[in-house]
Formats: sequence, structure tokens, C-alpha cells
Amino acid sequence: SDKGSLYERIGPDALEKLVRRFYTLVPQHPDLAPIFPADLSLTAEKQLAFLTGFFGGPPLYHERFGHPRLRARHLPFEITRERAQAWLACMNAALRDTPEIPDAEAREIYAALSRVAVHMVNAGEG
Ligand code: HEM
Repeated sequence: SDKGSLYERIGPDALEKLVRRFYTLVPQHPDLAPIFPADLSLTAEKQLAFLTGFFGGPPLYHERFGHPRLRARHLPFEITRERAQAWLACMNAALRDTPEIPDAEAREIYAALSRVAVHMVNAGEG
């Protein structure tokens, strides 16, 4: 599309704000708090690097941490459908709390992350 990548449209500053907001909400969610580390600074740094590339920007995660292997990296954590919904609810709230990201881009981000979140589910009834 001639609109450019999602990364180009939202820019690095808005993406960083989104990730920061997301990781202030995650430890406040009762379904998510138990599986995340107390210090979320490295987690947030990795997520920002990952999303930068995922949305069409420079491949920062690859450069710093190697192949993401996202599903494998999530296997040590019990991720139920309920937890995937909780993760997406935090992302949706973070998007709403980040006015620098226009509604159309917010919807696109949410849709893209919803598709990935489904694949992280590794526990619970099928
Ligand atoms: C890491 C949970 C979905 C990207 C993690 C960690 C947890 C977690 C517990 C480890 C944090 C740490 O030890 O630093 C979840 C849950 C999800 C979910 C419950 C619900 C479906 C996603 C999605 C993405 C994603 C959809 C990407 C679009 C990442 C990345 C890391 C990570 C990049 C860092 C991996 C690394 O250690 O290098 N996640 N996650 N996660 N997650 Fe998720």
C-alpha cells in the first residue's frame, strides 16, 4: 500500500509510549501479574524491539536477540485463552491511552496482535 508501513505511520516515539503504557497495565492485571517478572524493563525493551520490526521498521529484535521464536519463548509460561484475552485487553487499553496513535492505526495494530496472540496459547482446554 502507498500508506507506508505501520511503523512509518505511527513512528518510534508513539510506539515507545504504547509499549511503556502496556507494561504499566500488565502487572495490574490479575491474570497476567503472576507470569511476568517484577522488573519489566528488559521485557519492555525486547517487546519494543520486536514490534518495531513486526510493524515494518528496522529488525531490532533480530539484531539484538536473534530469531524471535515467539511461540517457543512463551512455552515456559502457562498461556490460556483467558490470559491471551487479558493480554489483548491490556493492549487495547494501552492503545486507547496513547492518543499519538490514530484510530485507524490502533485498529490495525490490535487486529495484527490478535492474530499473533492466538498462537501463544499453550495451556488449557482445547
Ligand atoms: C515475553 C506473556 C503474547 C511478544 C513474554 C513473557 C511473558 C509473556 C510472561 C516473558 C517476560 C520476561 O520474562 O521478560 C505473554 C502472554 C501473551 C503474550 C500471556 C498472551 C497471548 C505476545 C504477543 C507478542 C509477544 C502477541 C508479540 C506480538 C513477546 C516478546 C517477548 C515476550 C517479544 C520477549 C521474548 C524474549 O524473552 O526475548 N510474553 N505474551 N507476546 N512476549 Fe509475550
